[in-house]
Amino acid sequence: MTMRPKDFIAIRDRSAEDLLALLDEAVSIKADPGKYRRRLEGKSLALILEKPSLRTRVSFEVGIHQLGGYSLVLTPAEIKLGERESVRDVAKNLERMVDGIMIRTFRHEILLEMAEEASIPVINGLTDFCHPCQAMADYLTIREAKGRLEGIRVAYVGDGNNVAHSLIFGAVRFGVHLAVAHPPGYAPDAEVVRWAGENAAASGARVEIHEDPVAAVRDADVVYTDVWTSMGMEGEAERRKKAFRRYQVNDTLVSHARGDYVFMHCLPARRGEEVCDSVIDSPHSIVFRQAENRLHVQKAILLALMA
Ligand code: CP
Ligand code: NVA
Repeated sequence: MTMRPKDFIAIRDRSAEDLLALLDEAVSIKADPGKYRRRLEGKSLALILEKPSLRTRVSFEVGIHQLGGYSLVLTPAEIKLGERESVRDVAKNLERMVDGIMIRTFRHEILLEMAEEASIPVINGLTDFCHPCQAMADYLTIREAKGRLEGIRVAYVGDGNNVAHSLIFGAVRFGVHLAVAHPPGYAPDAEVVRWAGENAAASGARVEIHEDPVAAVRDADVVYTDVWTSMGMEGEAERRKKAFRRYQVNDTLVSHARGDYVFMHCLPARRGEEVCDSVIDSPHSIVFRQAENRLHVQKAILLALMA
């Protein structure tokens, strides 16, 4: 799973230096968006969305428009990727008409094939394996809230899913101390955890995997959770509700975090399942700032790949 520099596929494919440069660029864009308004003048971005989206769609559409370009959305109703037409043929058509592709799909291999076949930049807008634009926005938000990333203690409580994988990759690159707590049977991908173990030392990162949510949250600066049932897994929802019950982020659990902890969630949230209203609506919650930062960090990514 390697990323050619033309694409943005996974955080682990990029150096810490590259990723920090993107965060710094996002800070500049956020401070003075007007300065960037013609940087992608006339450039077009196709958004292939095979799953629902609010934040990813809106932030990419608005983001490219704010940079002087424009977007078009392609859903299964239009292209039926891999059914009406192969991934390769879609790539070969799009590369002649647009300047970049953002894709949200199921299997990560579909994204890799798109990136391999298309001569234009391909950006991962979420696969079953990872969600790198989300984690970039997350670490930008943590740095804003806590002033730094190195040594910051992040507790991720929940499913070892796409969001967890990207948080792990980012923790390793940014020197974060990440503790994941998951129910038995819902661990992050073993290969991802192994990779983290081999690479964490370079940045001073620590990645711990627990089954006890209290152990993960103890003294955390950041408490993060995600839905128990990700898009495409709806058939498992009832089984997951039972398996995850002890992993709800509620007042009891966050009482183990630092007094100045912040609560984060990639959203959408299933209130009353993975998080209670009293936590997500508390003054500790920075979930909407986190969502806004998708816009700024993705503009930095678009500029890095398409300008
Ligand atoms: N967090 C996130 O990617 O949201 P959407 O699924 O609404 O795009
Ligand atoms: N893990 C969630 C993230 C949504 C942004 C999902 O894949 O549905």
